[in-house]
Amino acid sequence: MGIVSPSQESYALAAKKLRDGGIVCFSTETVYGVGCDTFSELAIAKVYKLKNRPTNNPMIAHILDVSWTNLLCSGWSNKCSLLATRFWPGPLTIVLPKKESVPESACGGFDTIAMRCPSHPVARALLAEFDNPISAPSANKSGHISPTTARHVEDEFGDAITIIDGGPCEKGIESTVISMVNQPTIMRLGSVSVEKIRNTIGAVEIKSSVTQQNSPGTLMRHYAPNTKTNLLNKEEMDKTSDPDCVAIAIQGNPVLTKRVFQMPSNAQEYAKVLYSTLREADNAGVSRIVIERPCTAPVWLAVIDRLERCCSD
Ligand code: TXA
Ligand code: MG
Repeated sequence: MGIVSPSQESYALAAKKLRDGGIVCFSTETVYGVGCDTFSELAIAKVYKLKNRPTNNPMIAHILDVSWTNLLCSGWSNKCSLLATRFWPGPLTIVLPKKESVPESACGGFDTIAMRCPSHPVARALLAEFDNPISAPSANKSGHISPTTARHVEDEFGDAITIIDGGPCEKGIESTVISMVNQPTIMRLGSVSVEKIRNTIGAVEIKSSVTQQNSPGTLMRHYAPNTKTNLLNKEEMDKTSDPDCVAIAIQGNPVLTKRVFQMPSNAQEYAKVLYSTLREADNAGVSRIVIERPCTAPVWLAVIDRLERCCSD
C-alpha cells in the first residue's frame, strides 16, 4: 500500500489490517512507529522480524487514554496519575508491571509493560478506530536512525507496508521512558525533560544508558547512520579539514568539508531536525560525518544521549 494520506478510509483499512494480525506504520508527535495489535503474538513476531529487532527489546504499547492502562498494567499510583494528567497525551512513556493477559513477547520477556498515550491526531485516530492498544517501536531497522517522515519509513521498509502520513514529526526524538515499578526511574531520556518530571512528581533517578540492563533498547549503538560518525567539540570542528566528510555544526566552522549542515542553537529545534539531518548526511556519499557536541545544559540531555549513541562503535 505504501504511503497513504490520513482519511477515515485509510484508518478503517489500517485498523482492519491490525485486526487481521498485520502491521501498520503511522506518525506520532515524536517519531514514526511500526504498529501491531499488542495482544497478537503473531503480529508482534512480524514487527520484530521486520525491524530485525532483538526479541529481548520490549515495545511501547500506545493507548488512546489513561483508562486503557487497565487493560495492560497493575500498580497504577497517584504519581502515575500526576504524570498522566500533566503529560498525556504526549511524549512520556510509563513502565509498570504488566497484566498476565499481555503476551510476554510484547514486552521482550519482561514482566513490565511500557505505555504511552500519543498526542498526534493520526496516532489517535488509528487507536480510536482499532479500539485496542497498539504496540509500536520506532519504524526503523533496529539500531538505525529513527524516522520522522513517511518517506523515511518507506526508505527503511519499502513500499509494500502501509504508512499513514501525518507529516514531519513535531518533536523529532523519542518519548521519555520512566519506570514507575519502584522508585521513579528514567530509563530513556526523551522529549519530556527531567526537570518537568521532577516538578511534577519530585525525586527521579536517571539510569545511565550504558550500564542499565532493564531497558535493552538503550544499551546498544543506536540512532546510527551507516557512515562512520564522530562527535567533536567546537575547537576540533573548527580544525576539521577533510573533503570526504560532512559536518553537522551549531557554532563550529570547519576549514573544509564537503558540506556543512547548520543546526539550530535551540535544543528543541535541534531535536526536531536531528534525524532528518543525519539521514541526509548519511546519503551525502562521504566516508565520515562529524557532529559538533552541544553544550551540556540540561535541555540538551536527550539530544546528547542520541548523539553519543549514534557515534558509539
Ligand atoms: O516516542 C516513542 O517512544 C516512539 C513512538 C513510536 O512512540 N517509540 C519508540 O519505541 O521509541 P522504541 O521501541 O524504538 O523504543 C522503546 C524504548 C526502548 O528503549 C525500550 O527498551 C524501552 O522503550 N522499553 C519498552 N518497554 C520497556 C519496559 N517494559 N521496561 C523498560 N524499558 C522499556
Ligand atoms: Mg527505536
